[in-house]
Amino acid sequence: MNQRERWATKMGLILAMAGNAIGLGNFWRFPYQLAKNGGGAFMIPYFISLLLLGIPLMWVEWVIGRYGGKYGHGTLGPMFYVMSRERLRPKSALIFGVIGGMLAFIITTLLNSYYIHVISWSVAYTAYSATGAYYGANTVEFFLSHVASLPAVVWSWLLVLVLLAICLAMGIVKGIERWNKVMMPTLYVVALILVVRSLTLGSPVKPEWSSLAGLEYIWKPDFDTLSKNFFTISLAAAGQIFFTLSLGMGILQNYASYLGKDDDIVASGLATTSLNEFAEVILGGSLAIPIAFAYLGPEQAIKGGVGLAYMSLPNVFISMGEVGRVFGTLWFFLLFLAGFTSAIAMYNYLISILEEDLGMKRKLASLMVFVIYFVLGLPVALDPDLVVLSELDNWVGSYVLVVLGLFDLIVGVWLFAPSRLWDEMHRGAFMRIPLFYKYVLMAVAPVFVMILLAGTTYEYYVGGVFAWSADWRVNLARVMILVMLVIGALETYFAIKKKYGEELAKNQKLIVVE
Ligand code: PHE
Repeated sequence: MNQRERWATKMGLILAMAGNAIGLGNFWRFPYQLAKNGGGAFMIPYFISLLLLGIPLMWVEWVIGRYGGKYGHGTLGPMFYVMSRERLRPKSALIFGVIGGMLAFIITTLLNSYYIHVISWSVAYTAYSATGAYYGANTVEFFLSHVASLPAVVWSWLLVLVLLAICLAMGIVKGIERWNKVMMPTLYVVALILVVRSLTLGSPVKPEWSSLAGLEYIWKPDFDTLSKNFFTISLAAAGQIFFTLSLGMGILQNYASYLGKDDDIVASGLATTSLNEFAEVILGGSLAIPIAFAYLGPEQAIKGGVGLAYMSLPNVFISMGEVGRVFGTLWFFLLFLAGFTSAIAMYNYLISILEEDLGMKRKLASLMVFVIYFVLGLPVALDPDLVVLSELDNWVGSYVLVVLGLFDLIVGVWLFAPSRLWDEMHRGAFMRIPLFYKYVLMAVAPVFVMILLAGTTYEYYVGGVFAWSADWRVNLARVMILVMLVIGALETYFAIKKKYGEELAKNQKLIVVE
């Protein structure tokens, strides 16, 4: 087995993991999900999901990753395989391996291919804010003309892709760890500056419009609204927990595979979660919504939707006058940092596949992944109406995460065996988890995820998301998903076969790493 790289420092590991989790989900997705789902009503199921689903699943994914890393694996297929083998025969374990590998494959290829575009909007908008390009324009039209202009889309997109390729070619320690060590502290500083400004805006437009009113909208528990739309709001909240913590994606497992087999998981997983939640509810929660409340009023702020970050907030910067340019530049730079450090994780997942299964050198693999993201990102680049992007997001950005999360629990808890998981989790741990969490892992979390999955399936069904669409771009996105699923399944199957061929043939566990 070849020697795998390891994280050089604990600080570096935690910042890299935080960089993985803290992304556009925190500053762009969270505010509009919150606004769409009743503010203070959303926060109740949000925190419940964090405690009963987010934190336990975070630990399980770290265990899966560290355990797989011990066997030399950084990808989900073989990781699921070696774990399922504890209670299943190799041939049956192979099925779970293939499912895991295939799901993680479509996420890391397709989710990231459009996510990189969203990052590239932030890059372009950092420049537009600095130069004041959207001043005097209608900001909605300005945004639409940006995504419709191929040269504008392409330069910012290629810039992000090239930066990613360079960072990832440098490896785990010199690339991922070092870049995060610089970018993450910068992110916190930029965010803090923005938060201080946001909360001291007062009432610049109308006396009743203020950023504090925005905070109240978020933090005042609203049981009334929650009880009226209990299911919809809870689904959205649990979905956000998945997205923001990078759960059900395969990328936490991948980062955890670079841990030593006795490296702590309990405290480090908790630290990562806390850093992410701080960035989400405290920093993310004090920016887009409160700022929009102060300048555009509650109604507009709540209606902002997906366009809040890129279409509504530029109006705010314009109305601030010249300082708005500084403020806008910082805001979009923040989005860039957040998104970039997350995209690194998905990029690395694909490199791991090429390195491990095809024996490719990291530098060449980084170049190959560049080409893959370029090709897969083309349909999004060429579609100014963003139909392809939203369809991909509907599936790989929300639904598939939950499916993968369920398999994490089936494999990591049940097939590996609960008591084995519990021991493995505490191996090298600085602290013990309250026993109550063992039951959360065995029953509460799986049931929670199954309800989430059933509910989302129902909502998609009613919303017509399952129906074949008249828009060919929607169908194109679905075909892309299907094709990648098949490729992912085949790739995983052959990868596992190659390494565990003998034990699969005998249908008996032979390879054991202590
Ligand atoms: N947790 C990340 C976020 O909040 C999820 C993500 C990671 C999305 C990597 C895309 C790529 O944005």
